[in-house]
Amino acid sequence: MEPAPDETGELPMRLTTRIETLGTESAFEVAAAARRLESEGRDIVHLEIGEPGIPTPAHIVEAGVRALHDGATGYTLPAGLPELRAAIAETVTARGIPAQVENVVVTSGAKPMLHYTVLALAEPGDEVLVPDPGFPIYESVVRLAGAVPVPYPLDLSGDEAVTAAALAARITPRTRLLVLNSPHNPTGTAISARELDAIAELVCAHDLAVLSDEVYAQLRFTGTHESIATRPGLAARTVLVDSFSKTYAMTGWRLGYGVMPARLAERVATLVVNNTSCTPPFVQRAGLAALTGPQHHIGELVATLRARRDALVRGLGAIDGITCATPPAAFYAFADVRELLAASGLTTQALATQLLERYDTATLAGTAFGAQGDGYLRLSFATSAARIDAALARIARCARELSAACSPQ
Ligand SMILES: Cc1ncc(COP(=O)(O)O)c(C=O)c1O
Repeated sequence: MEPAPDETGELPMRLTTRIETLGTESAFEVAAAARRLESEGRDIVHLEIGEPGIPTPAHIVEAGVRALHDGATGYTLPAGLPELRAAIAETVTARGIPAQVENVVVTSGAKPMLHYTVLALAEPGDEVLVPDPGFPIYESVVRLAGAVPVPYPLDLSGDEAVTAAALAARITPRTRLLVLNSPHNPTGTAISARELDAIAELVCAHDLAVLSDEVYAQLRFTGTHESIATRPGLAARTVLVDSFSKTYAMTGWRLGYGVMPARLAERVATLVVNNTSCTPPFVQRAGLAALTGPQHHIGELVATLRARRDALVRGLGAIDGITCATPPAAFYAFADVRELLAASGLTTQALATQLLERYDTATLAGTAFGAQGDGYLRLSFATSAARIDAALARIARCARELSAACSPQ
């Protein structure tokens, strides 16, 4: 028999630096730790993972099942089913970005498209501007491509989530690609129309490309979504990335897409051939039903999330040592816990760990999203009202006990 890895985890082969240093998304690690605690009989409140918290609408499930029965189980075209690509083109055209089938590539979730875009647009050594705090996969795939992530700050206290001035200060002759994510994970904030105008000018002036991750575009509580790709000259420089995961509660189906200039789409389709060959056709048929079927669940989801958001933000604001802005989009509260950390001497990560291990509440440390996230926790409010109440009671008890342990006797 082959020797098993020994107890120290040593393997009889050398791993590459690229794989040893590959980043991750800590939401998956925290969810796994929470499930381990649950398997020991603990009742964990899950505020860590980015899922809408509702089942996939029935007509979408039925379309997927029907497609399986109809035999949509073989390989299909790498760029996606023409009908789905056409429906996506129509959807983004309605959002003000004229698109044709040739501009669309379908992938297994938005994540592969993030990776493909960076592989297609950044050479090794090129600089890529990424948000901090931001979705950690951006930095990770930039490094994997041999390029250099350059974090730009989100404004966590002011009105403008991202300013053109903050970006301009970080542009060098090596900058090739700007990653925008509006509305943002983890803050739930969005870039204003005025700053989008200024950012678009900056992009043209410095001859940059843009990866615009818009997976939360339809989950807005205030304001309307605007894509940078609507600005003059920007459609030709932008890969718009979107997904069925959040809007249609399809996280596990794995379905997303990119909209981009046709010549780039051809090359990105070649990346699909090299990776997965294609996106499963029955999943794409479900996606087609999502885009072309009734949309009323989106409004209902937004209304439910708004009520949950308000309850969570109100409850957090009532806890000593915590403040929390009201996010205008997505389903994350980014709570400022700096006072609590200062009083307790804990690091952000240690507080998140204590909340999980001692208070049965799974959250994410802001540091999982970049250095600027230090002093913040991300809490997803895509859960039931009862679970939000339970989480608030547990976080309040944690804050009380930490403050009591540290106050002079
Ligand atoms: C900003 C952002 N982009 C992309 C993704 C990935 O989406 P998908 O499930 O479509 O791969 C997520 C998931 O949390 C996200 O928050």
